[in-house]
Amino acid sequence: MKIVHAKNYDEMSQKAAAEFISLIAEKPDALLGLATGSSPVGMYQCMIEAYKAGKISFKNIRSFNLDEYYPITPDNDQSYRYFMDTNLFNAVDIDKNNTRVPDGQTKDPDGFGAKYDEAIAAEGGIDLQILGVGPNGHIGFNEPDSELLLGTHLTALKETTIAANARFFASEADVPRHALTMGLGSIFAAKKIVVLLTGNGKKGVYEKLLEGKVSTECPATLLHLHPDCTVFVDDSIL
Ligand code: GLP
Repeated sequence: MKIVHAKNYDEMSQKAAAEFISLIAEKPDALLGLATGSSPVGMYQCMIEAYKAGKISFKNIRSFNLDEYYPITPDNDQSYRYFMDTNLFNAVDIDKNNTRVPDGQTKDPDGFGAKYDEAIAAEGGIDLQILGVGPNGHIGFNEPDSELLLGTHLTALKETTIAANARFFASEADVPRHALTMGLGSIFAAKKIVVLLTGNGKKGVYEKLLEGKVSTECPATLLHLHPDCTVFVDDSIL
């Protein structure tokens, strides 16, 4: 794992966007692994600017998102589908048929999870996966636990996550209690991973990463085991 310091959120966003921009320039039909939350918003903005400047096109880009609340409809402004449309997809020339977000309305979450992982593999695997990290060290919605699942699955959110995400909802009671998330195996299958570590309450996660140990009780530490993982850390943590 490579840990790279950035002097602020903007610099972190630019550095992470540069990884995506050079991939898209080299491989115009790359398969991107995308994430939501406050962490990647600035990075998506830099990618939109690169598109508007004519440096890259998303015409043949394909994407799979990491997670989605459950149950939720795609037109709900708290859904991760809505987030992706408004923070990236609507501003670039991507074909939305090539963008996949876990189906927050599926009646068969187990079957859906298996198909989602199969579809990623069938399309050649994720070239570059962006990840944020929760204050409790979760990646996607893989919450701290004694055991973690490999495939895409339905999970119950921890109270710490419900509290951390309540800022996006009218009240904590409105935060969904479940989510669909790629599992550790789905995430680790990505050829390259970029992590954004920014935001309040995550210093503890950074310290854990520096300890150089791995624990399922802090899922982000498992990224030490990935062969090509870079963590960008901004001044909110340092
Ligand atoms: C959310 C999402 C994660 C996200 C993380 C950090 O709950 N499930 O995919 O990366 O928590 O969120 P933020 O970037 O808003 O701090």
